[in-house]
Amino acid sequence: MEDRARLWRKRTGSATAIYCGFFIFGNLLHFFRFQKILERFHRNSSKAANEDVAERIFLIAEGRIHVRCHRQDDHITTSTWDFLKPANLGEKGAHVVLSPETCVSYQVEPLEKFTKQLYVYETLVHLQQGEQCAQEAVRRAEAELLEILYRRAQEEAEPQLIISIFDTERNRSSQEQRTMQQRAAQQEQERRAELCRDYLAPYLAPVGDPEKLTRLQAQQVKDDCLRDLKNRLVQQANLIQARFEKETQELQKKQQWYHQNQPSMTREDEEAYLEFCSEAMFQIQILETRLNRHKRLAPQKFQALEDRLNKDPRLNEQLLPP
Ligand SMILES: *[C@@H]1O[C@H](CO)[C@@H](O)[C@H](O)[C@H]1NC(C)=O
Ligand SMILES: *[C@@H]1O[C@H](CO)[C@@H](O)[C@H](O)[C@H]1NC(C)=O
Repeated sequence: MEDRARLWRKRTGSATAIYCGFFIFGNLLHFFRFQKILERFHRNSSKAANEDVAERIFLIAEGRIHVRCHRQDDHITTSTWDFLKPANLGEKGAHVVLSPETCVSYQVEPLEKFTKQLYVYETLVHLQQGEQCAQEAVRRAEAELLEILYRRAQEEAEPQLIISIFDTERNRSSQEQRTMQQRAAQQEQERRAELCRDYLAPYLAPVGDPEKLTRLQAQQVKDDCLRDLKNRLVQQANLIQARFEKETQELQKKQQWYHQNQPSMTREDEEAYLEFCSEAMFQIQILETRLNRHKRLAPQKFQALEDRLNKDPRLNEQLLPP
């Protein structure tokens, strides 16, 4: 029964369908009183055609309800019922009197139950509820329609462009989202860079990068860090020293060669030799300066790292568990 197919309303005495009234703007619609509601239902094959309602017409103003059932395939007529609602139907505690006019029916296959007063009463109550549901449904449809019309009017009065989410230049919300994403990415990058810059990171990793170091681990990290710096400083010194010695040796060799061959040398050879010497001596001087500077700075660098390690809260022994 509930698979209500469609809803119609008609003004009695006039062929104008009331839904034409929907297109009249304003609150006028709310003054309409329903005269007639017609409901149609699809065939439900699990019911007998005789008991499967096809059409209900609520003649609200007249207090009548017309019910027509579906037609069985091999029949030519359908069962119909005409109900005249008793005045006090649905009133609480009222005694409803059913008269012969209350229910007039034509039945294709008369059944005894259709003639029972209780059946008629229950059907009436059921139809009364159906009528209320139908009225509410129409009102809801009406409200929805008004809402649609209102929105259309609004949109037509002040059209607004919808800018695609991909048009990041013009669509502000997507632009903001993009900026936020970029900012987040940048913050993440900075965080990573910070992590890379952490001078202790390579030494914390071997002990498992724990939240808090033990004293033993702190000592190990400190020792490793200082040992590495010391090795690096020694290595640098050795490199400079090696280049210094190489350059010096080459110069000495060239000088020996010059003394041996001087008598037979042309002027150009001599000039080339002098140029070589001056270049070599310049290089040697630079290397010597670098070496001295390195020797002077190395202990300072070492001391600076040691101080830094001692001040690093992560390695501060007083605060660490044993
Ligand atoms: C068809 O009728 C049966 C029996 O009354 C009912 O259970 C079923 O819900 C009905 N089907 C539909 C689609 O209303
Ligand atoms: C931006 O794009 C979203 C998603 O398509 C859309 O909902 C929103 O209305 C657009 N903003 C503007 C100002 O058009």
